[in-house]
Amino acid sequence: MSKPNFAPLKLFITGPTYIRQDVKEAALLPEFGHRDTENDLRCVPIRENLRKLAGCGDDFEPILCLGSGSTAMETSVRSLVADGETILNVSVGAFGDMYYNIAVSNGKKAENLKFDYGQAIDLNVLEDKLRELKPEVVSFTHNETSTGVVNDVKAVCEVICKHGAMPLVDGVSIFGGAPLDLSESGAAMYSTATQKSLGLPAGFGIGFVSKEAEEKAAKVTNKGHHHDITKHLDKARKNQTLTTPNTCLVNQMWYQLDRIVNEEGIENRFARHAAMRGQVEQWVAGIDGYEMFAAEGYRSPTLSTVRCPKGVTLAQLKNGVKEGLRDEGYLMDPGYGKMNAALEEAGRGLVFRVGHMGDITPEMLAEYLDKLEVELKKL
Ligand SMILES: Cc1ncc(COP(=O)(O)O)c(C=O)c1O
Repeated sequence: MSKPNFAPLKLFITGPTYIRQDVKEAALLPEFGHRDTENDLRCVPIRENLRKLAGCGDDFEPILCLGSGSTAMETSVRSLVADGETILNVSVGAFGDMYYNIAVSNGKKAENLKFDYGQAIDLNVLEDKLRELKPEVVSFTHNETSTGVVNDVKAVCEVICKHGAMPLVDGVSIFGGAPLDLSESGAAMYSTATQKSLGLPAGFGIGFVSKEAEEKAAKVTNKGHHHDITKHLDKARKNQTLTTPNTCLVNQMWYQLDRIVNEEGIENRFARHAAMRGQVEQWVAGIDGYEMFAAEGYRSPTLSTVRCPKGVTLAQLKNGVKEGLRDEGYLMDPGYGKMNAALEEAGRGLVFRVGHMGDITPEMLAEYLDKLEVELKKL
């Protein structure tokens, strides 16, 4: 077979993300049977370490859904919104809209409460909507990947619960990169994925299911097979997956979670992500005409969004900056397409993103920002 011409790019996009060499090599650990005792050797510690990272105990059951983050989100919708019930999806960007679209495409009665690009959820506006609509279920995004905005999970869940609804949270692009304290959050189900702040390849949607959600799912009908929380929980309690897992990824997950918890340390990992956010803020402050897009206090620790001066075009970001960085061995993120198209049409400055999640280090980020600055100065 001829040697492939694949470029070994360092990914500074917002997922999938950079994977360490030792994590790649963990895929070569022995294959195993997922209904055999060998499965327990991997999945017991995986489930324990997921709980440690989430800040929960046995009040939440971790489930691994074959697929990706949206598979876990779809599982939450199929299993926790009963026929005849209403789900309110609260959106601060493209991925909030995605939760709404998942609900609609599953035939659920859904409404989307949208906030402008760059804003976090306004609790007063949400509360007014809850009073008016009286939904049984509400979904929202913890870390909006299109805008780099973080919502306060506990505060949003508190308002939702006050109005008797069940909160479903999309934490796809932040889990593993910031403290969560799931037990105290008020969330009924929290969904995430392997390929972002956990620094693994894609392949599992991860769901954390509360007792309240478990009880509700038992009464909901038409959950399908892959999206049935009740079936997932039955297997999860045996430390198994509902369907055949990617055993290479299970091996990597066993290795990576052990490394995160017992080698790097959870607090150190979270501090490293927060420090990288500060690093981008400082870098942006030193470049004329550029500014952070998300407001201070709502900025993501796993990805940063940077507003360009007016006049910088999408074509320049995509063909100039991105391709210039490719030549240097990096994959740059020129911003979320739909949002930049809307900003360009409105004559507003475009926004590009810097992913700094998973196992990217401050040293790697510093090198990347230097190269990025050189490309931006060519515009
Ligand atoms: C916040 C958020 N939610 C959901 C998704 C969809 O996840 P996946 O592509 O893993 O299905 C993404 C992917 O980028 C995301 O960033």
